[in-house]
Amino acid sequence: MTTPIEAVRWSPAADAVRIIDQRRLPEHYEERDLRTLDEVVEAIQTLSVRGAPAIGVCGAIGLAVVAATATSDPGAFPQELRRMATAIRDARPTAVNLAWAVDRVMARVESLADRATILAVLREEATRILDEDRAMCRAIGEHGSALISDGARILTHCNAGALATGGMGTALAPIYVAHAKGHRVAVFADETRPLLQGSRLTAWELARAGVPVTVISDNMAASVMRSGMIDLCIVGADRIAANGDVANKIGTYGVAVLARHHGIPLYVAAPTSTIDPATATGADIVIEQRSPDEVAVPFGHRIAPVEAAIHNPAFDVTPAELVSAIITDTGVFRAPYRFG
Ligand code: MRU
Repeated sequence: MTTPIEAVRWSPAADAVRIIDQRRLPEHYEERDLRTLDEVVEAIQTLSVRGAPAIGVCGAIGLAVVAATATSDPGAFPQELRRMATAIRDARPTAVNLAWAVDRVMARVESLADRATILAVLREEATRILDEDRAMCRAIGEHGSALISDGARILTHCNAGALATGGMGTALAPIYVAHAKGHRVAVFADETRPLLQGSRLTAWELARAGVPVTVISDNMAASVMRSGMIDLCIVGADRIAANGDVANKIGTYGVAVLARHHGIPLYVAAPTSTIDPATATGADIVIEQRSPDEVAVPFGHRIAPVEAAIHNPAFDVTPAELVSAIITDTGVFRAPYRFG
């Protein structure tokens, strides 16, 4: 039995957010403690901590940690707390879990005036969000494992595993549960350009857990599907609109188109905290644009000329019609979606 991955949690002294630095995997396993507002924001923006549920948990614990460093002047404290909350909430725009978690902890303290009480309630609510996230991952695993038969060959994109959540993951949770039940499963991990979350992170955590995993470059997915090597696809989500459109890591849409063409089911696995009823359709989802260097100079090695323009959206939207079902902590939903 390997020890569980804890991508984001309280530090042992509960004075920091402890994260696994995902920029360094798979070569180096290193944990970091985040104590200041700048550290929390920087860790989220640089993908040191990443994945929709994980940045939500990091945002909530991070706010509880940095709020304790805010002014003790009772007149200025509420305004400084709001400024900190906004900075963390806005660190990345697409994954709704971040805004959801920060709004949730802030809503708990809205009517409170006493600084010490506010700090205590922020900690309590952040801990609850972490605990709930763990439980939601486990429930997704249980619901989703029913879709995985013995011998299933599963393609996934990006990393929606333990590294992306406070618990055992979303897209990978059904795989972990099926594997633990003794089902033979084989995973094909898209490497996921440009930041390689699939090869660096998904392959690392599956191999560590003893789940057979094969890395393919993104442009191999079509031929692998055509060769009959894939039975189903499971991916995560950063935001699910009310109509079932799904924002997830760039390339997910392509996988969904390919899966439909080859008659392969594509499942999206996500906790309730990723469903955004306030967003009507995928067209309303803000897609994060990231640095051109991630494409042109990946991992410090230039692979495109400086003269070339670079387009680097971090996410795309898969229309609901290409999604076979959405696996959540409360069950498996199919269109037309009425998430309960
Ligand atoms: O940019 P990232 O690495 O944070 O993107 C992560 C993804 O797109 C995941 O698939 C998604 O957040 C689901 S994580 C359970």
